[in-house]
Amino acid sequence: LKRDPKYAQVTEEHINFFWRLLGSESALIDGVTKDATDDIEPFNADWMRKYRGHTKLVLKPSSTEEVSKVLKYCNDNMLAVVPQGGNTGLVGGSVPVFDEVVINMSRMNQIRSFDDVSGTLVADAGCILEVTDNFLKEKNYIFPLDLGAKGSCHIGGNVATNAGGLRLLRYGSLHGNVLGIEAVLPDGTIVDDLSTLRKNNTGYDLKQLFVGGEGTIGIITGVSILCPRRSNAVNVAFLGLESFEKVQEAFKEAKGQLSEILSAFELMDSYSQDVVYQVTKNNRPLESEHPFYCLIETSGSNSDHDNEKLEKFLEHVMDKNIVSDGVVAQDATQVKSLWGWREGIPESLGYWGGVYKYDVSIPISELYGLVEETREKIAGAGLIGGSDEHPVVSVVGYGHMGDSNLHLNVAMRRYDKRVEALLEPFVYEWISKRNGSISAEHGLGLAKKKYIGYSRSDTMIRLMKQLKDLYDPNGIMNPYKYI
Ligand code: FAD
Ligand code: MLT
Ligand code: ZN
Repeated sequence: LKRDPKYAQVTEEHINFFWRLLGSESALIDGVTKDATDDIEPFNADWMRKYRGHTKLVLKPSSTEEVSKVLKYCNDNMLAVVPQGGNTGLVGGSVPVFDEVVINMSRMNQIRSFDDVSGTLVADAGCILEVTDNFLKEKNYIFPLDLGAKGSCHIGGNVATNAGGLRLLRYGSLHGNVLGIEAVLPDGTIVDDLSTLRKNNTGYDLKQLFVGGEGTIGIITGVSILCPRRSNAVNVAFLGLESFEKVQEAFKEAKGQLSEILSAFELMDSYSQDVVYQVTKNNRPLESEHPFYCLIETSGSNSDHDNEKLEKFLEHVMDKNIVSDGVVAQDATQVKSLWGWREGIPESLGYWGGVYKYDVSIPISELYGLVEETREKIAGAGLIGGSDEHPVVSVVGYGHMGDSNLHLNVAMRRYDKRVEALLEPFVYEWISKRNGSISAEHGLGLAKKKYIGYSRSDTMIRLMKQLKDLYDPNGIMNPYKYI
């Protein structure tokens, strides 16, 4: 990749404009003039420390009008920009590739309104997911999305990536839950589509382009989102199983027996749990070890009723030899600690040095085959093992079984070109042959830029490019990424 010379470099004149507009507190610079105002390295590095940009300017607008003025100025002056939320994205989309200006949304963090009859929340894009969910908790509502990065990610970032997370099985995708969007186009136009209506069939549903758009056509400044009632009773079971066939049977049974109260069905292989154990040294939930584990969550309105259903389900699947061992959380602390074995995987995987991540959709019967084949391939090349000479620590599979969404991850002592050559395009070809998706919920960003053709036809890519050119004719929005 080469820096495109059509983009301007940040000058003192630009800085003066932004300082006048936002104040020096909200326009952080390093390297443009002699006096740096701040350390801007954290805005240049992604969560995995895999991608590093070289921005010299970070802007933190605090209103939609400021975003509009910033973008218009950047567009008029050919300054490329990267919208940034909590910077927890996993495909290198939230950091600059070269010296693009970072537009960080953390100052736009106000709840605008909440209607406790319909459950409609309207909030700034920079609200942190967990903070927003805590606000809703007080009203007995829940944000329809939950994920491990909740303490840092923004709801605008969630919408921009169309994040899936741990409860999509129950509450569905953001494409359904987002009722309205306010966004700013590169020329400063404010897209005023912050509808709070559940139904609104008046022409094209343009807001959907921003859901999962990864900051390539505009900046989301506000979202209106439908929030469900919070369940009074939340139960969690943690199961050990002997094969992936049994995992599928357990999933079928869970859907049948737990039906309307099932809120999560997560898969973890033994390798992923070994990694969490090695890093956290926490007591394992089950006495014996198994090739596969599942975490099942139920959310309902009656604790006794739900508990009885879950216990009965567990009895049934154990009697039928579908599940070898299982435990049901007895209190909220145990619920949290069982979830820790699932939510702790991404962080634990990064413990040694690096991780290659593949977030994919595959027809469910073949889901785990990819992990097995990848592990064999890497073992066959002698690249995996317990000592320092082996670059690979472990090949693990986990994910959102309920959505046929697998996370194949390769934990590394250090990034290694030989391993990369084994993984790509192998993984993408494997998925394409089965009509899967090379990006289930994380997006394409920079990581999968070259590979979109494995999941989208030439016609679809051409249509995407036409839309991109329409909304962002100068190409200033998040350049060098997938489109
Ligand atoms: P960023 O990382 O800052 O940005 C992500 C992308 O969105 C970038 O392309 C950026 O340019 C764009 N963007 C950000 N804000 C805006 C905006 N306001 N307007 C326009 N574009 C914008 N993802 C899942 O789907 N499911 C999971 O279960 C899940 N779990 C995770 C667990 C961990 C520990 C981590 C680190 C990540 C996880 N993710 C998961 C990845 C996920 O994409 C993000 O956590 C989240 O959705 C990104 O939000 P963010 O605010 O951090 O966005
Ligand atoms: C998860 O499900 O834990 C997230 O998508 C993060 C990851 O893939 O590691
Ligand atoms: Zn995930």
